[in-house]
Amino acid sequence: MSSRSDLASNQVSFIILLLSLLLVELCNGGITSEYIRGSNLPDDMPLDSDVFKVPPGPNTPQQVHITQGNHEGNGVIISWVTPVKPGSNIVRYWCENEKSKKKQAEATINTYRFFNYTSGYIHHCIIDDLEFDMKYYYEIGSGKWRRRFWFFTPPKPGLDVPYTFGLIGDMGQTYDSNRTLSHYEMNPGEGQAVLFVGDLSYADRYPNHDNNRWDTWGRFVERNVAYQPWIWTAGNHEIDFLPDIGEIEPFKPFMNRYHTPYKASGSTSPLWYSIKRASAYIIIMSCYSSYGIYTPQYKWLEKEFQKVNRTETPWLIVLVHSPFYSTYVHHYMEAETLRVMYEQWFVEYKVDVVFAGHVHAYERSERVSNIAYNIVNGLCEPLVPDELAPVYITIGDGGNSEGLLTDMVQPQPSYSAFREPSFGHGILEIKNRTHAYFSWNRNQDGYSVAADSVWLLNRFWGAQKNTA
Ligand SMILES: *[C@@H]1O[C@H](CO)[C@@H](O)[C@H](O)[C@H]1NC(C)=O
Ligand SMILES: *[C@@H]1O[C@H](CO)[C@@H](O)[C@H](O)[C@H]1NC(C)=O
Ligand SMILES: *[C@@H]1O[C@H](CO)[C@@H](O)[C@H](O)[C@H]1NC(C)=O
Ligand SMILES: *[C@@H]1O[C@H](CO)[C@@H](O)[C@H](O)[C@H]1NC(C)=O
Ligand SMILES: [Fe+2]
Repeated sequence: MSSRSDLASNQVSFIILLLSLLLVELCNGGITSEYIRGSNLPDDMPLDSDVFKVPPGPNTPQQVHITQGNHEGNGVIISWVTPVKPGSNIVRYWCENEKSKKKQAEATINTYRFFNYTSGYIHHCIIDDLEFDMKYYYEIGSGKWRRRFWFFTPPKPGLDVPYTFGLIGDMGQTYDSNRTLSHYEMNPGEGQAVLFVGDLSYADRYPNHDNNRWDTWGRFVERNVAYQPWIWTAGNHEIDFLPDIGEIEPFKPFMNRYHTPYKASGSTSPLWYSIKRASAYIIIMSCYSSYGIYTPQYKWLEKEFQKVNRTETPWLIVLVHSPFYSTYVHHYMEAETLRVMYEQWFVEYKVDVVFAGHVHAYERSERVSNIAYNIVNGLCEPLVPDELAPVYITIGDGGNSEGLLTDMVQPQPSYSAFREPSFGHGILEIKNRTHAYFSWNRNQDGYSVAADSVWLLNRFWGAQKNTA
């Protein structure tokens, strides 16, 4: 009796084995690019590089950067550093159409110490009374060494408002990082704002996390971020936790240098927040802050998803540093507990696309979910395709000195649509309420070449139409 059932169960196991082999064959997912990269690790640009040049004049504002300053999009935070003394804390700004109506706003000034490094004077100025969809000029510093920049405010949130975002992650300050930035700037489809998915300067690769490398990074990216807002996500290279030398306050350099409009979205921490920008609602998560049930981040997110009005902002985008779905060996499943906590909400609230970095490569997933599993039902395989689920895009390929990751899970799982370890950036072009086009540009190609691209159909408006 028992041996017969053993036999039967052996046969069953054999059939299951055959089936799964077959499945592996069938599921052998999307495309793994054939491109083979060179094996050298990228070098950081030396301190005397052109991109790190200090602007002329004594105490002239440097490391100028802007980010969104309120929830609706008609606000900006303008930040800069003066190296020697506080200097002027005034921003003068005016709308292109009203040159005679110059206004001014005051910045706060802070400094911080990190081991034996003392920062310059870091200025942050919030301006939130701007008009939508306008060109503004702003000036900082004083007298002969005053510096002038400009930016565009986004259109007011709305249903069919086109808008283009750039996507950059894990950037660092190597020659490759400079190539990524140049490719982004030269891309004929350059974005109007950058969604930055974390890991900025990689200063923590230096002894005692030499914070001078935060300053060089600030000067390097100024050429873009002084003119269009970069939306910040905190990565692991922002933690700067170094108890051996007494540095026990996580995110100290990052939070002193890069402000976010977190209060405007009811968040209690600069590390997680949300913004509306044109037709997009963007939720920024911090995977290196507590996120379990009852934590401040959890409590905030619980309300946040319910707040999104898809008639006002049809596109729902999440930024988080560590990817939920990645098929590279390095960092494999690092965000698994985060995924278990939050994927349910992503599906329930019809998130369109989730952008992550961390894995130094590019990957785009199919629409996939893995939320059916309840311990006893055996449904532990990701569901592909799940038309209700977001697309997950890893864009941790900005060019930092840790280099690219080439080891991939083989065979390519069915939820992976395209993967390639090359440096590059992404562009997300929102066309209207139903359609957005995502493309990935590699540094080894021409400026207008897309190595991977996909039309995204809005989960709320497009998918609704399709499945009705
Ligand atoms: C900080 O300490 C490091 C290591 O001891 C040393 O090389 C560096 O010169 C110091 N920097 C300052 C500003 O004192
Ligand atoms: C960085 O890129 C810019 C623009 O392409 C170029 O002018 C500059 O020389 C580059 N600097 C380095 C150090 O590669
Ligand atoms: C959603 O936004 C639209 C457009 O702004 C507005 O008319 C509508 O009242 C909002 N819905 C809710 C529930 O607030
Ligand atoms: C939305 O944009 C897509 C792509 O450009 C286009 O094919 C479609 O007709 C547009 N929909 C509407 C309602 O305009
Ligand atoms: Fe990372």
